[in-house]
Amino acid sequence: MLRIGTLSLEQPTILAPMAGLTDRVLRQLMDEIGGCGAMVSEMIAAEGLRRRNRRTLEMIAGFPTRAPQFIQLFGAVPEALAEAAAIVSAETGYAGIDINMGCPVPKVVRSGAGSGLLQDLPRLGAVVAAVRRATALPLTVKVRLGFSQVNVLETTRVIEQEGADAVAVHFRLRSDGYKGSARWDLAAAVRASLRIPLLGNGDIMTLAFALEKLRAVDGVLIGRGALANPFLFREIAGQETRERDWGGTVRRLGALIEEHYPERKRLGKLKAFIRFLVLSRPGSRSWKRRIFLSQDFREARGFLEETFPCA
Ligand SMILES: Cc1cc2nc3c(=O)[nH]c(=O)nc-3n(C[C@H](O)[C@H](O)[C@H](O)COP(=O)(O)O)c2cc1C
Repeated sequence: MLRIGTLSLEQPTILAPMAGLTDRVLRQLMDEIGGCGAMVSEMIAAEGLRRRNRRTLEMIAGFPTRAPQFIQLFGAVPEALAEAAAIVSAETGYAGIDINMGCPVPKVVRSGAGSGLLQDLPRLGAVVAAVRRATALPLTVKVRLGFSQVNVLETTRVIEQEGADAVAVHFRLRSDGYKGSARWDLAAAVRASLRIPLLGNGDIMTLAFALEKLRAVDGVLIGRGALANPFLFREIAGQETRERDWGGTVRRLGALIEEHYPERKRLGKLKAFIRFLVLSRPGSRSWKRRIFLSQDFREARGFLEETFPCA
């Protein structure tokens, strides 16, 4: 069991935050499939939440799940993040808050948010301290190894000192983007330097890799691997996976998209999930092409369901 502040996770596995992907649809789908210890939302602008921007409020709309859900906030201004955290605590059912210090997108970095914070330790510390004062919810911070040079021992020390309950490390630099392999060899040194749990992240695509990495850290975040194989969390939890119901899963995905998005957004959403779904499946190129070329949600959904017949 993994403890993050007052929260006990049944499994040491967490669905990693992914903008455009870990929305309500994916979190609900993953929760129904089961096996995962917690799930993190898409990144949510602290400024948007503080101003109660309508679209931001729609993105964080709550729904009950078995696995606890964290909301991930991003921003550069400590007061804005603190205000957003106070709103999450007082007005939503989220079980915890994660702060984004890993996003490599230039626009986000230029504003001083995301991985931009890794270059500014005093601000990084002020952000964690302000959010810590604003909420009693379990608090995690997600970083990369550094911006263009490794400084993960420094950043995680400040994060721990300022009161976070766990730290998640994507074992790449900001300058790596998503290239190369995540540098898990650095996990031992980071873990040895911390008292709070270390959550490791990067390139977990298979059961064997996950089990190996779970020996090096206290818990793992899985992003793309959870889309490529939605049953991965169940496999890691040692739950029955002989009956991998791909047919039922893609049908449920289509139904959830239809339920939660207006017509004009459905096709884009389906394509976003399909980009990552079943990466290694034989013949995936040809069926993905059909779906990407489609101009119509119903048609694309039909192709998907044809490709994955019901068991
Ligand atoms: C499409 C996409 C969107 C992402 N959005 C976020 C995000 O909003 N916040 C965040 O902290 N990380 C984000 N990430 C990074 C993932 O959380 C994770 O750190 C990264 O994908 C490496 O883990 P993986 O190999 O298990 O996917 C995103 C990654 C992808 C592929």
